[in-house]
Amino acid sequence: MQEKHNEIKQNAKIEIAKTESTKELNDLKAKYVGKNGEVTALLRGMKDIPAEERASFGKMVNDLKVEITEMFSAKENELKDKEMMAKFDSEAIDITLPGKTPLAGSLHPLNIVKNKIFDAFCGMGFEVFEGPEIDTDYYCFQALNIPKDHPARDMQDTFYITDNILLRPHTSPGQVRTMENKKPPIKILSPGRVYRADDDASHSPMFHQIEGLVVDKGVSLCDLQGLLDEFVKIMFDEQTKTRFRPSYFPFTEPSVEVDVTCCKCHGKGCSLCKGTGWIEILGAGIVNKKVLEMSGIDSNEYSGLAFGLGIERITMIKYGISDIRTLFENNVKFLKQFNRR
Ligand code: PHE
Repeated sequence: MQEKHNEIKQNAKIEIAKTESTKELNDLKAKYVGKNGEVTALLRGMKDIPAEERASFGKMVNDLKVEITEMFSAKENELKDKEMMAKFDSEAIDITLPGKTPLAGSLHPLNIVKNKIFDAFCGMGFEVFEGPEIDTDYYCFQALNIPKDHPARDMQDTFYITDNILLRPHTSPGQVRTMENKKPPIKILSPGRVYRADDDASHSPMFHQIEGLVVDKGVSLCDLQGLLDEFVKIMFDEQTKTRFRPSYFPFTEPSVEVDVTCCKCHGKGCSLCKGTGWIEILGAGIVNKKVLEMSGIDSNEYSGLAFGLGIERITMIKYGISDIRTLFENNVKFLKQFNRR
């Protein structure tokens, strides 16, 4: 019996040593200690053993089972380690390979400039108020002192939905809607899309404006000048200066056209400023008393300043863009130039 015992043990040892995978090892385990395995068969043979030898026989077989089981688990650990290392090797990545940069989007130049304008004015205490893109004749014109058949309507004639409802031709209705809803002091920016019957290299039927409005006691043209001087320094550079030229808007009195020193040649004269050294950037003025009164603000107590700037225009000046249409074509090659990350 001892011989049989030794033989099984020896064979198991040899066979276990030869196995190369956990799968093979599991099959082998079944052969020895499984339900129909050789060690199990020995136990089954117990009944043929004389009663007095049974106890020592049982102990022997059990010891054999324990020994063999231990041999299997030692081998199993060894194989598992080996298989894990092989898996690591096969999955290894070469960390010296150059990385792939994911394609990242970037802000559209109009948004870059819009954000910069917001930053500049919000830093000076302005709040943002958005008006509707489709508005009534009253807000677009009449409340801004442009009655029906006023010649100033020609400059801004736009897209009518009905006789009374139209796509707004400027963001100035934002002034009126703010004054109707807010008591002075008022300091707001009103941004948005505007529409006009214009289409060439420097005009688009749809473009973006930002309206500025300040209403308080004693607001004057000097405040407008100070505000815009500060703004152009932030928008362009420290050396930029402004210049006011008399102009006309029905809703401001006096009205001005504001120029800045050319950001390319700083006033010397170049192709961007057509040799003049100056570039027009916006229209502005002191809010017409009639407009204040129509919106329910006492023009004897309060005065206001307003300005309206075109985001496309500022963007074109800032980046030297000669055709406004490039801003709407969404050509990725063009847009990528503004990705400054
Ligand atoms: N609304 C004017 C325009 O679109 C600009 C402007 C705004 C002028 C406010 C004066 C004051 O041309």
